[in-house]
Amino acid sequence: RDDIPATAHAAIGVFGGSGFYTFLDDAGSVELDTPWGTPSAPATIGTVDGVRVAFLPRHGTGHTLPPHRVNYRANIDAMRQLGVRALLAPFAAGSLRPDIRPGEFVVVDQLVDRTTGRADTFYDHFDDGPRHIPFAEPYDPGLRRVLVEAAATAGVSVHDSGTVVVTNGPRFSTRAESAWHRANGWDVVNMTQYPEAALAMEAGIRFAGVALVTDYDAGLEGVPGVEPVTQETVFEVFEKNVHRVREVLRGAISAISRLA
Ligand code: ADE
Repeated sequence: RDDIPATAHAAIGVFGGSGFYTFLDDAGSVELDTPWGTPSAPATIGTVDGVRVAFLPRHGTGHTLPPHRVNYRANIDAMRQLGVRALLAPFAAGSLRPDIRPGEFVVVDQLVDRTTGRADTFYDHFDDGPRHIPFAEPYDPGLRRVLVEAAATAGVSVHDSGTVVVTNGPRFSTRAESAWHRANGWDVVNMTQYPEAALAMEAGIRFAGVALVTDYDAGLEGVPGVEPVTQETVFEVFEKNVHRVREVLRGAISAISRLA
């Protein structure tokens, strides 16, 4: 990958793991600095079926950043600097429901924040007056529709809505926490959707998250023989399905470029 100027531009952005580098044609890398610090990695800009896309691995190039240490503000600001208007955020998730199975996708429409201590706003000072952003609908309905359609076209099993509860990590949940999350009616669990979604909203960037289910969290009542999740399972199931994630994103990117 060549270095490209910091004036590089892409209207569509993707946050994801290292499995996405191979996804971009003619890729170049751009180092960005932000008022909030350094993003997780240089951004990679390339094309997917001729559409320019900016890609940033949220855990860093060698997956060195745990979820509570990701500089979400710098990552979102980097995307903003690149001109990103629509941001797609694939993520690994545990299922809290027997009918949402590993290998399936969930285009989430709600989130619950259970994180602590993360820098989650660009408005640490109300310099130009109060800034309380609406967050009732944390995910962009138009982008969600595009993702659901792209998933259906790719032939993957997709749930068209769901609530993600975001834990602080890096540890997984206890059985009691997991049972409580499920009893509240929440569908999947993850460690990075907050504050990513909130910061995208503050930055005025359309944002949608799509879960790839990798496990049943601490195990589920009614699903016999399920072991509590391990890190190995999450990475293994994600790697096994990453080609499906890429296919869903490819379809979504193409559809979004036709929307404008
Ligand atoms: N990411 C993937 N699986 C998870 C789980 N069970 N809990 C939190 N984050 C996850």
